[in-house]
Amino acid sequence: MSKILIKNIHTLYQVGEDFPEMICGEAMKHVPTIKNAFLALEDGVIMAYGSMEDWEGITDWRGVEVIDAEGQSVLPAFCDPHTHTVFARTREEEFVDRINGLTYEEIALKGGGILNSARRLGELSEEELFQEAMKRVNNMKANGTGAVEIKSGYGLSVEAELKILRVIKRLKQESGIAIKATFLGAHAFPKEFKENHQAYIDLIVNEMLPLIAKEGLADYIDVFCERNYFSVEEMQYILLEGKKVGLIPKVHVNQFSIMGGVKAAVELGALSVDHLEESNDEDIEVLKGSKCMPTFLPGCSHFINIPYGNARKFIQEGLPVALATDYNPGTTPCDNMQQIFSLACVKMRLTPEEALNALTINAAYAMGLSETHGTISLGKSTPIILTKPIDSLAYIPYAFGENHVDRLVF
Ligand code: NIG
Ligand code: FE
Repeated sequence: MSKILIKNIHTLYQVGEDFPEMICGEAMKHVPTIKNAFLALEDGVIMAYGSMEDWEGITDWRGVEVIDAEGQSVLPAFCDPHTHTVFARTREEEFVDRINGLTYEEIALKGGGILNSARRLGELSEEELFQEAMKRVNNMKANGTGAVEIKSGYGLSVEAELKILRVIKRLKQESGIAIKATFLGAHAFPKEFKENHQAYIDLIVNEMLPLIAKEGLADYIDVFCERNYFSVEEMQYILLEGKKVGLIPKVHVNQFSIMGGVKAAVELGALSVDHLEESNDEDIEVLKGSKCMPTFLPGCSHFINIPYGNARKFIQEGLPVALATDYNPGTTPCDNMQQIFSLACVKMRLTPEEALNALTINAAYAMGLSETHGTISLGKSTPIILTKPIDSLAYIPYAFGENHVDRLVF
């Protein structure tokens, strides 16, 4: 049994027992803390915490690893509820095309984008894909991420989608952190189905879904609902079929255009609606009173130069907000939630406390990990971020080029 005691913690953030399952609206401004604190873990489970003044010491020191934090602070690990971590190659040539004036949509229309990544996926074996993805997950851990949702979607054939999902399954077993798998066969129409959408949708529904269900390869189902990709009606049909085999919807909507995808996804019981660079009053009204988490991806806005989602308005209207990286080779080659933290504060005008709620408890909700992750609460098994010495929470998004994570403690 591993026993860890962290003492002399400068500030313990996001700590307590009275958290709701998600933090909404005004309440996002508040992060409960304990200053000059201790924290005890047993086999990675939070057993005790409190102020050093109330610490009664330990009678039996055998087998206890003591970490003297001496001014370092502690947060629950970030949860990253939206990534495309399993991919074959980076796409910096498209980055240069954008610098030279092309848009993401123009590049996609000439065969770049998702189809570019799908073509390249075949160049790597399952083992190679796993090794590459594992390196990426380790890098995420070094940057403070303690749980990751990973989508398929760069396969776009039965064989290749299953290959990605098997890699994700192995990451679940070997990464040492919680991983959730999302089936995103409906990421783009392969070239050969450009004129026959129904045939590709049939392939997803009649061939991919049964195999995925049989092998237990996914927790969630995603569709990229967007012009030139999947229509609202196509999304509804695919999500409904996914639900029949137990997959919960979690979708890409409103990245470039508003098509009514938010309403359709909420009505189908989506756990989260992600992107939302574009949104309108109807989207906000539909989300009110739902159990669906609006999830913003500011790394994507930064990198492909599109508007930032109006998270401020969502919060003002009393909604919760979560944040994720969207880590992928096309729109967000950034796996680092600390960068997302900073972008959310600088570009979306979230306060550091609002952003921390969005990166921890609300992000945990958006990937079905409320029971174990997102807060420092008794019985939870979230990894713990031990920061480098920082005087305030705001210093993390403020000093945006630095890695503020000393290490994750399990
Ligand atoms: O979330 N928008 C759809 N999917 C990804 C990008 C995929 C790609 O360009 O490779 C995203 O941004
Ligand atoms: Fe995405």
